[in-house]
Amino acid sequence: MRASSNHHGYIFPMTDQYAVIGNPIEHSKSPLIHAAFARQTGQDMHYGRLLGDLEEFEADVDEFVDGGGKGLNVTVPFKERAFRYADTLSDRARAAGAVNTLTFGDGGVHGDNTDGVGLVRDLTCNQMFRIEGANVLLLGAGGAVRGVLRPLLGERPGKLVIANRTADKALSLAAAAGHVAVMGCGLDELGGRRFDLIINGTAAGLAAKVPEIPDDCLADGGWTYDMLYANEPTAFVQWGLSHGAARALDGLGMLVEQAAESFRLWRGVMPDTAAVITSLRAG
Ligand code: ATR
Repeated sequence: MRASSNHHGYIFPMTDQYAVIGNPIEHSKSPLIHAAFARQTGQDMHYGRLLGDLEEFEADVDEFVDGGGKGLNVTVPFKERAFRYADTLSDRARAAGAVNTLTFGDGGVHGDNTDGVGLVRDLTCNQMFRIEGANVLLLGAGGAVRGVLRPLLGERPGKLVIANRTADKALSLAAAAGHVAVMGCGLDELGGRRFDLIINGTAAGLAAKVPEIPDDCLADGGWTYDMLYANEPTAFVQWGLSHGAARALDGLGMLVEQAAESFRLWRGVMPDTAAVITSLRAG
């Protein structure tokens, strides 16, 4: 714990500082989530919001560290730059090629990625979906998909198809995964296939669009999961509901779970996520 002395010379501890950095950042729910975790677990910390400069991201992080900051969550579009900024990396960050959690300590800057474990915990622990043996379709081949690929494979799906508008990117991601259950293809090559779970990791939803996939690619009783979260049902949640999904989930649970894993890394205590998900859902 850092300490400061006041003009009487008394030493008093300073509240540990954390923040989320991104651009844009004003709508981030992370400060709300971490404040709830801190209250719940009695941790003395403050978690703010930083608008990162698109040119000067590294300088912004330097400044936060120089001011005594303990950790940062990193969001769009800086996850790859945070990966390069870190001195040391977790295996899952290395596999993702992206960092969403930076920890500043005596040993330097450590980079981790909690997105994948956040998705997997939401699906398996909160929603009780059994990934093991399931036929899973993962849409997209950008940073969001790279972040969750390895943790998903760790749950041993029967098959995992990565499909992307630009087929090449899906093919190279699948090849890099080097796993018998994984294959890559273009969105236009999905005809005739059925999936138990379709996860949307594309950026299409940001423009209120859905990736162009066949109407009949969801198996009977299949689920859909949008990694995106918004206050209103996202375009892909609506796609799931109108295509017979047994459950059409959005990314709120993933958002809270990835935050919880970051909180655990920083504070050494795992918060209760269910209460926070419920209160955010209630608005
Ligand atoms: P992120 O880091 O959020 O994943 P990204 O790396 O820019 O962002 O990747 C965006 C992903 O969304 C890509 O897979 C992109 O497909 P392309 O590789 O073909 O560009 C996908 N995407 C974006 N808009 C889309 C749309 N309207 N339909 C389908 N896929 C879309």
